[in-house]
Amino acid sequence: MSLKETVLAQVRARSPLRVMPEPPLPALTPTWADASVRRISAALDRAQQRDAGGWYVVGRSGDVPSGESITRLIAGREVALWRAADGRLHAGPGACPHMGALLERCPVAGDTVLCRWHGMALGEGRHGYREHPAYDDGVLAWVQLPTDGETPASGPRLPQRPDPETAIAAVYVGRMRCEPADVIANRLDPWHGAWFHPYAFSHLTVDESASDADRLVLDVTFRLGRTFGVPVRASFETPDSRTIVMTILDGEGTGSVVETHATPLGTDRDGAAITVLTEATIATSERLGFRLLRPAARLVRPLVVRTAAGLWRDDQDYAERRYAVRRGELGSGKDRRG
Ligand code: FES
Ligand SMILES: [Fe+2]
Repeated sequence: MSLKETVLAQVRARSPLRVMPEPPLPALTPTWADASVRRISAALDRAQQRDAGGWYVVGRSGDVPSGESITRLIAGREVALWRAADGRLHAGPGACPHMGALLERCPVAGDTVLCRWHGMALGEGRHGYREHPAYDDGVLAWVQLPTDGETPASGPRLPQRPDPETAIAAVYVGRMRCEPADVIANRLDPWHGAWFHPYAFSHLTVDESASDADRLVLDVTFRLGRTFGVPVRASFETPDSRTIVMTILDGEGTGSVVETHATPLGTDRDGAAITVLTEATIATSERLGFRLLRPAARLVRPLVVRTAAGLWRDDQDYAERRYAVRRGELGSGKDRRG
């Protein structure tokens, strides 16, 4: 090997970047022929049949402070969440059994929450109050609600995540006018990636031989500008009807995951469904640079969240439009005149 080749090989080994020029629009191959409607629908149907056991993502685990309660609307129900003195997550109905006060920003005493109207101490079995099972996985907070058509499970189905000791986790939360299935359907269509988000992805091919009805495997380049990109191999799987997970199988960040959780809130004044999207990026890497970056996770998180938010601006249009078309809402597009 010549000196030049040796130096190039070393640079390659040290950097995940590859020279992968962004294909100009005329050279970009339309992907509609590969994005089979029937195939995406079949994958979505299978995902919808996977019982989530009544578990819903509430939000970031850090959203529930210590010392006082918060409330959230989940699947049309008001839910109160608080942390006991020992840090354990608790959840229960959001309305006080005395006169119906919303249990928002109520002080916590021990493992009970004190209603802010008249101070009733509420916790499992007190004054007829029944708590909901709750779970904090270290990144996300979950609650289990009695849900029609789902068989209660002892805990949420957590996908395989990288070791928290060596990973950086960042969570993006967005709200959209659609059903959870529309969010999952967006992710079950990876073919839109390079065409719809050319600034973010390119060189995207689904590996049919490695994919099956429950798992899509694809090769894709994450773009870092017009010239450079980071090629990876990734899979998409749906552990339950409200979750889709991308796992990096090979390339930079092998073992990293992006979990997209879709939680139904309820309906707006027009009767349209509102869904909250909670997307957790849990990144890891063997590289020294990443290990050095870990102590600065606080600075890295906003960048990861900003990237997710940018992609979801487009994908929100996709999911909301899909919902609007299904509802027969003609004229739901944005008229940009004037
Ligand atoms: S409404 Fe809660 S104690 Fe009265
Ligand atoms: Fe997308």
